[in-house]
Amino acid sequence: MKEILIRNLASLATPRGNGPQQGKAMGQILELQHPYVLIREGKIAAIGGPELEENLSPGAMILDGEGKTLLPGFVDAHTHLVFGGTREEEFAMRLRGESYMAIMEKGGGIRSTVKHTREASEEELLKTGWARLQAMAEQGVTTVEAKSGYGLDRETELKQLRVAKKLHGLGGPAVVSTFMGAHDIPEEYTGQNEAYLAYLVEEVLPFVRVEQLAEFADIFTEKKVFSVEESRVYLTQCQEAGLKLKIHADEIHDLGGAQLAAELHCVSADHLLKANEAGLKAMAKAGVMAVLLPLTAFSLKEPYAPARKLIDEGLAVALATDFNPGSSFSHSMPLVIALGCLQMGMTPEEVLTAVTLNGAAALNRAHLTGSVEVGKAADLILIDAPSYRFLPYHFGMNQVVLTMKGGKILY
Ligand code: NIG
Ligand code: FE
Repeated sequence: MKEILIRNLASLATPRGNGPQQGKAMGQILELQHPYVLIREGKIAAIGGPELEENLSPGAMILDGEGKTLLPGFVDAHTHLVFGGTREEEFAMRLRGESYMAIMEKGGGIRSTVKHTREASEEELLKTGWARLQAMAEQGVTTVEAKSGYGLDRETELKQLRVAKKLHGLGGPAVVSTFMGAHDIPEEYTGQNEAYLAYLVEEVLPFVRVEQLAEFADIFTEKKVFSVEESRVYLTQCQEAGLKLKIHADEIHDLGGAQLAAELHCVSADHLLKANEAGLKAMAKAGVMAVLLPLTAFSLKEPYAPARKLIDEGLAVALATDFNPGSSFSHSMPLVIALGCLQMGMTPEEVLTAVTLNGAAALNRAHLTGSVEVGKAADLILIDAPSYRFLPYHFGMNQVVLTMKGGKILY
């Protein structure tokens, strides 16, 4: 039986529970001073004091956590991890004042990455994907979501998802896949949204299902992309095919994406920069996780999603990076944490919950990971600080000195 004991810690901080924490509960974290943590067979076996050292099995590994704080590993619940090419020229265009949507209408944006992703080999995508995953692990990420949606044809959508599945198997952070063929309308289907969505349902989804390539389906519900009506029909079909649902909702315009997420009981609605009051209330009632993406607002120079208001109204909030080549070419957890506290009005405790347990809940994994509790996976990090309060206080810095996934040290 492989055992690991972490001793001499300065502290431990964690949210608690097997599901999403809503509203006030997001701020109620557990903090322990100088705890010992025992890990057995990749799971947290005990949390206690020095007595845990007494009955260790021979060959147990002892980790000295002197001066450090133990936290749950971070869960980045919204990324577009696997893609070809980059779009640094568009970033410069935006700095000169062009809008994200204007660039998209000129054939740049998502379509430009589609071209590069279609051209990329599976090996290339695997190589860049793995490098990104390793960089994420260095910042404490133990679970990451990966969306397809830069193929927009069967071959490339499946290629992206197969790469994500292989990445999951490589022993780094866990990769949870989302089928997002409905990320944009490909050039071949310009002006034929319904026909394209029907193609996805009839010609791509069955393969996703048979090869078990995704757990979630997602759609970009936005002006000039997919309408609420189209999204409703499409997501319902995906649900019938056994996928759980997510929506890119009310990112650039308020179309009522939040209401749709509530109506369909999506696991999460993501972005929500422009979501209206009624939609947000409906989400709270239906228990839909609000996944907020501060790096996207930062990079697009848009106002941040109203996290404070959402939490005060009782919603569950997760924070994620939205790592992608266009609107957020960064997977910086230190920046997510800093913006959560300094720009979105969240407390350090709420941010900790948002990047751990609520991230896990946005991926339907809150019963397995996202908190330091007996029985959960040993998905843990050590930060070089005496308390979790340093996460936002020492802003912009990577304080992670050890990342563990299922008891295995990744970094
Ligand atoms: O989540 N909003 C749509 N999708 C991405 C951006 C994709 C891109 O620009 O390549 C997002 O922001
Ligand atoms: Fe996104």
